[in-house]
Amino acid sequence: MASTPAEKRLIIPLPGNEELARAIALDGNYRLGSLETRRFPDGESYIRLLDDVEGSDVDFICTLAQPDDQFLSLVFAADAARDLKARSVNLISPYLAYMRQDIRFKSGEAITSRSFSRLVSSTFDSLLTIDPHLHRYHSLAEIYNIPALALESAPVLANWVSRHIEQPLLIGPDEESEQWVSRIGEYCAAPFTVLRKTRFGDRNVEIHIGDLSEWKNKTPVLVDDIASSGRTMIEAAKQLQAQGFAKPVCLAVHGLFADDAYERLNAVAAKIITTDCVPHSSNNISVAGLIVQGIRQLAAKAKNAEKSVSC
Ligand code: R5P
Repeated sequence: MASTPAEKRLIIPLPGNEELARAIALDGNYRLGSLETRRFPDGESYIRLLDDVEGSDVDFICTLAQPDDQFLSLVFAADAARDLKARSVNLISPYLAYMRQDIRFKSGEAITSRSFSRLVSSTFDSLLTIDPHLHRYHSLAEIYNIPALALESAPVLANWVSRHIEQPLLIGPDEESEQWVSRIGEYCAAPFTVLRKTRFGDRNVEIHIGDLSEWKNKTPVLVDDIASSGRTMIEAAKQLQAQGFAKPVCLAVHGLFADDAYERLNAVAAKIITTDCVPHSSNNISVAGLIVQGIRQLAAKAKNAEKSVSC
C-alpha cells in the first residue's frame, strides 16, 4: 500500500461490499469508485473499472465469505487496475478466507491457507484484514509475502459490550478463542473464561464446560471469531443453560452463518451481534473506522520504505 494524499486513494467495492466501502471512503475522505460486473451466458465474468485509476492507490474491498465465487473477479479487477497504471493495488478483506486449514489434519489434504496466501500475494501489493484465524500460524507474515496487516476488533467489540451489557462474563467457546476473549476482557475490564471444544466433523462439536457457578450473577456473552455452521456457539449456549445461566448474548467478529446456522443459533441465544466484516442482518458493530486506521498504518509504512530506498 503506497502512500499518497487521501484524495488520491480510491476505494472500490466488489459486489456486496458497497456499504462498508462507502463508510470507509467517508471516514477516510477517500474517493469511492465502482465496478461494472456481470456474467457472460457461459458463466465467465465481465469486469470493468469505472474510474480513472492512473497514479492512485487502489484498495479493493472484498470480504471473502464466499471465496471460491469471489476470488477470480477480484484477480481480474486487480490486474485491470495494474494495467491501467494504478500506483498500488491493495486488498482490504475484512474476513480472510482459508485460514483454518493450517495443517494437514488427514493425509493427502491440501493446506489451503498456503495456496490461497500465495494467490493473494501474487496479485496484490498489500493485504489488510481483521482478526484472521491465526491459530497454528502466529502472524500473517508466515504465509503472506506482501505487507499484511491484521487488525484486532477487540476495542470495538469491548466498546459494544461496555455500552450494552451489565455485568458481562465473556466466554470463549474453545482454546483458540482465548486470544480474542482475553483482549476484550482487558479493554472492558470484564472477567472471561474459556471452554474446551472437541470437533468431530463440520457440524458436530462437543463443548466441555467447567464449573462456572462463581459467575452465576453475570450476563453470559459468548465470543468467537467466526460463526460458520454455528454449532460451536450453539453447543456452548446449551451447556451454559444446562448450568442455569440465561441464554447468552452471542458476539462474533465474522458472521458467516452457513445454511440455517443463524436460525438455529437464534433459538438458543438472547441476541446475536456481529461486526460488518461480513454483511448480515446481525451487524451492529462497524469496523470502518478501524480499517481507515489500518490504511493509514500501511500507508505510513510504505512511505518509510520509500524513504529508506531513496536514501
Ligand atoms: C475455530 O475454531 C473458530 O474459532 C470457530 O470456533 C469456528 O470456526 C466456528 O465454526 P462453527 O460455527 O462451524 O462451529
